[in-house]
Amino acid sequence: MVVVKNICCIGAGYVGGPTCAVIAYKCHDIKVTIVDINPERIAAWNSSKLPIYEPGLDEIVFERRGKNLFFSTDVDATIQEADLIFVSVNTPTKKTGLGAGMAADLAYIESATRRIAEVATSPKIVVEKSTVPCRTAQSMRTILEANSTNEIHFDILSNPEFLAEGTAIKDLLSPDRVLIGALQTKEGLAAQEALVNVYTNWVPKERVITTNLWSSELTKLAANALLAQRISSINALSAICEATGADVDEVAYACGLDSRLGPKFLKASVGFGGSCFQKDILNLVYLSHQLNLPEVADYWKQVVTMNEYQKKRFVRTIISTLFNTITNKKIAVLGFAFKKDTGDTRESAAITLIKDFIDERAQVAIYDPKVSSEQIFMDLCEPGVVDTRKQVEKQIQICSSAYEAAKDADAVVIVTEWDEFRDDQLDYERIYKNMHKPAFLFDGRLLVDAAKLRKIGFKVNVIGKNELAGTA
Ligand code: NAD
Ligand code: UDX
Repeated sequence: MVVVKNICCIGAGYVGGPTCAVIAYKCHDIKVTIVDINPERIAAWNSSKLPIYEPGLDEIVFERRGKNLFFSTDVDATIQEADLIFVSVNTPTKKTGLGAGMAADLAYIESATRRIAEVATSPKIVVEKSTVPCRTAQSMRTILEANSTNEIHFDILSNPEFLAEGTAIKDLLSPDRVLIGALQTKEGLAAQEALVNVYTNWVPKERVITTNLWSSELTKLAANALLAQRISSINALSAICEATGADVDEVAYACGLDSRLGPKFLKASVGFGGSCFQKDILNLVYLSHQLNLPEVADYWKQVVTMNEYQKKRFVRTIISTLFNTITNKKIAVLGFAFKKDTGDTRESAAITLIKDFIDERAQVAIYDPKVSSEQIFMDLCEPGVVDTRKQVEKQIQICSSAYEAAKDADAVVIVTEWDEFRDDQLDYERIYKNMHKPAFLFDGRLLVDAAKLRKIGFKVNVIGKNELAGTA
């Protein structure tokens, strides 16, 4: 039986960091070292201010760091020492070349795999933790076998990560399931068992699922596609609600009580964001095209198309409600992260919305409790988002509170569902008093009680609900 004693994780990001910190926290007899080619990221992991915000993460890292949890830039030595290596590098959508805008960029996976092959001096279990297209394990095997200078035996496993940001630690400590795919050979199954034994230190055995490699790889894309599809479905229905007077919360609640549907992931919103959903669906679309399944590709593509439509529809509603122009008007944007309880802004709906507001020549005041000004400027100045930093700086004000953002604003737009924007936490009377009148509020997250805010005097518009919802 193979017993894992030393783990290396390549990639100290949103997945590698929390996942391997939790392994160290739960398995004191395993030495876990997380490596990265980005020295600033590693320095931050070794400091008192970790590079990512995730509830509960600090406590776990601070408890195990320096005991059996280490962060290092010494990739080669850590690979050599390890008997199991997680590859948890980024796999973004390709920006250029074949499959640009759809296929996953596997350059980081390939360079990490080549590094393992070049420096390994003893057998390794190599685990795909990154989300990858189906059959990537085959390419990794080919690279490892072709480049191993020492004729080392490598086993490859697929162990996709299902954590959601903002609840990563909770998800890792008590996962719905852990999935481990392996080649159905004697060696493959032994490697699979070794990783199962790591997880069963804290995850009940029945929640650790074992499959073949390709099922495991595809399951990750499938799970994200199915989750995102639910959001696009409820968002499509939110447009019908607004046009008819149905209330999307009521519709979602009543549908969700059907035990075949379930209540989760039916919250209408300004559109899903995050580094995974869009990228992984586009990855699935590309895979379908490659497999000559155009109808399948079109089906999944529509989930992303609907998401883009939802963001544009929200912007159109804002502009038309503000008398068809927002030029020189002040728009207060509450929230910049792609969801609450994270500082991550990747693919955040806020970026698309604010770009549109800037194009309309509005003045935009932004407040987010966890996103730095520098990050906001970086996102808004990205090529293709807004042309120059100077222009952005003229039209953007980064604020340190919701009150500051809303002062003298014509409209408040809730983009991220941070608890502190709820109507029992934020003093909306104070906000109203300091705004231009009429004071508009657009809720892209179904976060506030519209009736309560209308009583204060706000003109409220909520996704999936029109003002007359429920009336004759
Ligand atoms: P990330 O960008 O936060 O982290 C990836 C890290 O890998 C970076 O710090 C980068 O410097 C490092 N890296 C890249 N190439 C390297 C190399 N050759 N050697 C050493 N380090 C290298 O990305 P992430 O959000 O952690 O995502 C990682 C993978 O996990 C992706 O495939 C993603 O799709 C998947 N995933 C992400 C989430 C999520 O919520 N973020 C959830 C599930 C799965
Ligand atoms: C997702 C998957 O949930 C997770 O399993 C996978 O490992 C990575 O991708 P993440 O993107 O971190 O996780 O967060 P998630 O909670 O799924 O939210 C994604 C986006 O959908 C956010 O913008 C969120 O606000 C939005 N969302 C979510 C909705 O608009 N409505 C919902 O009902 C749920």
